[in-house]
Amino acid sequence: MLVEAVNWLPERNWSREQILANPELAHYVTGWPRPDDFGLVAVDAADRPVGAAWCRYLTAADPGYGYVSDDVPELTIGVVETWRGRGVGRALLRAALDAAREHGVPTVSLSVERANFAARLYAAEGFRTVESFEDADTMVAELGTGLAPASTGS
Ligand SMILES: CC(C)(COP(=O)(O)OP(=O)(O)OC[C@H]1O[C@@H](n2cnc3c(N)ncnc32)[C@H](O)[C@@H]1OP(=O)(O)O)[C@@H](O)C(=O)NCCC(=O)NCCS
Repeated sequence: MLVEAVNWLPERNWSREQILANPELAHYVTGWPRPDDFGLVAVDAADRPVGAAWCRYLTAADPGYGYVSDDVPELTIGVVETWRGRGVGRALLRAALDAAREHGVPTVSLSVERANFAARLYAAEGFRTVESFEDADTMVAELGTGLAPASTGS
């Protein structure tokens, strides 16, 4: 699902090997699970994975693209192409934020390239932009503040 997330642009077709060989990308999954990692996998009726959303703490020494602080985990989300646009991503995002609340995590961050429609999904689910770079924004969701709508179970 990291491959799906990285390759959100159709013309960007990086292989799993290329992505895992790039430390700035591989560190979102390397050594999974660490004790404080959490996330969810969506599966189809045959139990095949169709998407995932996960949170990982990265540090100032090895920051993610959406790094804001050592005590704020960064969210990554990806849905396989054939399942996109069918509500899986929104459901995963809501479930991941619910999982964060259950873990007592007050804030979650992410990075989204500005051209990606996913930024609108994140904003609709309570994320706000806290830092802008040339092509990407860092967004955070403050949990338990009422900003993120409750899951509808969809
Ligand atoms: C971003 C992603 C996780 C969203 O998951 P999804 O299952 O496709 O999204 P959903 O079906 O839940 O749709 C969520 C919203 O996005 C909108 N949307 C979905 N696909 C869209 C598209 N291609 N263009 C514009 N909007 C789109 C939907 O309309 C929906 O909004 P609405 O409910 O107001 O109509 C998924 O598309 C994906 O994996 N994309 C490639 C990887 C990626 O971009 N990851 C995030 C990197 S920051």
